[in-house]
Amino acid sequence: MPSKVMHRKLNIVCEPTPLAASGRLSELLGVELFIKRDDLAGPTLGGNKARQLEYYFGAALSEGADTILITGAVQSNFARLAVAVARAQGMHPIVQLEDRVPGKSDLYRESGNVFLSRLMDAEIMTYPLGEDEAGADGALQERADALKVEGRRPYVIHLSEGHPPLGALGYVDAAKETLDQKDDFDVFVVASGSGSTHAGLLAGLRGAGSGARVIGSCVRRSAAQQGPRVFRTMKLLARLYPGAASVADADIRVWDGALTPGYGQLGPPGIDAIKTMAIYEGLMLDPVYTAKSFAAVLALVESGEITRGSRVCYVHTGGLAALFAYEDVIASCS
Ligand SMILES: Cc1ncc(COP(=O)(O)O)c(C=O)c1O
Repeated sequence: MPSKVMHRKLNIVCEPTPLAASGRLSELLGVELFIKRDDLAGPTLGGNKARQLEYYFGAALSEGADTILITGAVQSNFARLAVAVARAQGMHPIVQLEDRVPGKSDLYRESGNVFLSRLMDAEIMTYPLGEDEAGADGALQERADALKVEGRRPYVIHLSEGHPPLGALGYVDAAKETLDQKDDFDVFVVASGSGSTHAGLLAGLRGAGSGARVIGSCVRRSAAQQGPRVFRTMKLLARLYPGAASVADADIRVWDGALTPGYGQLGPPGIDAIKTMAIYEGLMLDPVYTAKSFAAVLALVESGEITRGSRVCYVHTGGLAALFAYEDVIASCS
C-alpha cells in the first residue's frame, strides 16, 4: 500500500516536468534513454532543489516566517533558488556562501548563481570553511537568533545531517510523477550530494511499487561515505514518509567514478559527459552535479552494469547557471 506524503507544500514546480526520449544518445549507448527534465523545474533556471524547496517553504509559511536563511557552496543552486522563491513570497533571503572549492577564479566567485542571487538582491554572508556543515549551520543559526531579537521571523534551511529531510519529500513526489509518465524503467541515474534527492527518489519508487534500480553518482563524498549518508537520510525520511522504512541498505547504490578531483571540480569523465550531452542532444549539463551523474550513465553502460537495451531514466537535476562560472575551466579542456 503506497504511503502518502502529508506535509504542507508550496507549489513552485510546473508539474509534471517533461520526460524526453533521447533518440541520439539511445542509439549511441544502445539503451532506451529518457531524460527527466528537472532542469526545467522551478524559477531562475530551475533544478532539483525547486522540488525540495516546495516543502521547506511550506514549513516556513506554516511558521509565519518572513526571512529565509540558507547555506551552500559559492555556486549553490539551492541558495539561488531559495532566493528566487523567497522573493516571490515577499520574504527576505539570506544566503551564506561557503568556501568549498579550492583555487577558484573571480569568474567562479561572481558569475553564475552568485550573479543571479545578487541580481535578486539577496543578503550575502560568507563562511570561510567548506567541510564544516555543523559550523555553517551554526553561523546561520546565530544570524537567525539575532534577527529574532529584532522581531523578525527567520526560517533556517539546514545543511547538516540530523534535521528532518523535508526536501527528500519533493523527490518522493517526483518518483510518482515519473512513473505516471512511464512505469517500466529498469534504472534511474541521479546526482547524489546531500543525498536528499537520491533518498527521496528511491523511497518514492519503492513506495509506489517500482523495483527500478537507482544509481546515485557521488559529487561530494566517496561511495564509502555517501552510501551510509543516503541510508541515514532514508531512516529520517521514514519519519515523514513511511514508504521509506522498507528501503534496505543493500538497495542504495552509489558510484564515485567521476568524483575526482573533488566537489565542484571537473575531471575527464565530467568534461566528456558535458560535451557528449551538448553534442548529441543540444542539452547543457552543469559542472558540479549533472556532469558527474551523466558520466555515471556513460561509464556504467560501458562497464555493462547498465545492460544494453535497458530502459534508463537519467534525472537531469539542473544547475545550468553554474556552467557560466566554469567557462574558463571548460574552455581550457577543449
Ligand atoms: C543541480 C544539482 N543537482 C543535484 C544536486 C544534488 O542534490 P542532493 O543535495 O539532494 O543530493 C544538487 C544539489 O545542490 C544540485 O544543485
